[in-house]
Amino acid sequence: MRQIEQRAFQAYRNQFQEEPVVVASAPGRINLIGEHTDYNGGFVLPCAIDLRVAVAMGQDGAQLYSADFDELRPLAAKREGSWADYPSGVAWALRERGIALAAFHGAFAGDVPRGSGLSSSAAIEAATALALDQLFHLDIPRKDLAILCQQVENKFIGVNSGIMDQYASLLCRQGTALLIDCRSLDAEPVPLDLVTARLTLLVCNTQVSRELGETGYNARRSACERASHTLGVKYLRDARLQDLDKLSGEELKRARHVVTENARVLRAVEALRLHDFVEFGALMYVSHESLRDDYEVSTPELDAFVELARQSGAPGARLTGAGFGGSAIALVQVEEAAALAQGVQQHFQAQGFKQPVFYSFQPAAGAEVVK
Ligand code: GLA
Repeated sequence: MRQIEQRAFQAYRNQFQEEPVVVASAPGRINLIGEHTDYNGGFVLPCAIDLRVAVAMGQDGAQLYSADFDELRPLAAKREGSWADYPSGVAWALRERGIALAAFHGAFAGDVPRGSGLSSSAAIEAATALALDQLFHLDIPRKDLAILCQQVENKFIGVNSGIMDQYASLLCRQGTALLIDCRSLDAEPVPLDLVTARLTLLVCNTQVSRELGETGYNARRSACERASHTLGVKYLRDARLQDLDKLSGEELKRARHVVTENARVLRAVEALRLHDFVEFGALMYVSHESLRDDYEVSTPELDAFVELARQSGAPGARLTGAGFGGSAIALVQVEEAAALAQGVQQHFQAQGFKQPVFYSFQPAAGAEVVK
């Protein structure tokens, strides 16, 4: 068991005075490229990271314990504004699906920082869904579990998010990224052999934390829906660049990002297959500019990180996740990562930004049942 899984296991034992029946965990993610394309039926390319949420579970009871908050909460029937909304939402979604879910209780422990753009909410949802699937022998395919977790976000939490984060958490595999076609919901692993190229993914958590429900996320999605309505397509995925002159203002900018970003994802996958990290990285920079100028979800901190990465000669960098704060990533040579992080730290201090937190990742494993 990983350390985080042991923490959930121990917390369960201490709290409920018995052995858990199931222990499962699920990772957060970074998205390499393909931002704000998922709810437009487009392409995304996330990979799992080595930060996870673990849960230990047993039957009966109805209590949820968080080792991180040292807090016991009842399973909630509706959103209450706490961490327990996510596991409660999963139980709700299973029952909505017609499953007569018996009583359960569980203990959680996680190290995915909340509100950081690294999908801590998808990780707790995915860990809960997988654990319940195992505990009650539901045999629900992982893709369906991911869709169910998305329902939790959309209908229980109230964030109109797409499918990327839940798919990534449940379906990613170590050493690979996951190309998801968010219209067909097909997903295929794409090799991401950074080790041979002596590259790493440096994540900069700007510590500007946010809950997506409180950002412009839902408004971005509405603008895309208006644009696709005007263009007469179901999803912006189906629009072409030359169609966009029927749009103006906000809708034109948002749609231009989505259409160009989808094309970039496909080019990026080609580049990865050819081990062309120079081309791959260049696409990351262009993606960032499009998110900054057309989608308008960047922040001064994210822009500063990407600019410093560029100046340091990193092959690529961009914000990752929804934006509005959260995290950015850079593809850097292993031996350059520490110097870049240090330079960014000094720059942030001089600018009066919050002190960022850095992590260095190789693509990690998706959700797993470990007991
Ligand atoms: C959040 C959402 C995802 C996706 C990204 C932006 O992470 O949960 O569904 O829309 O933002 O790409």
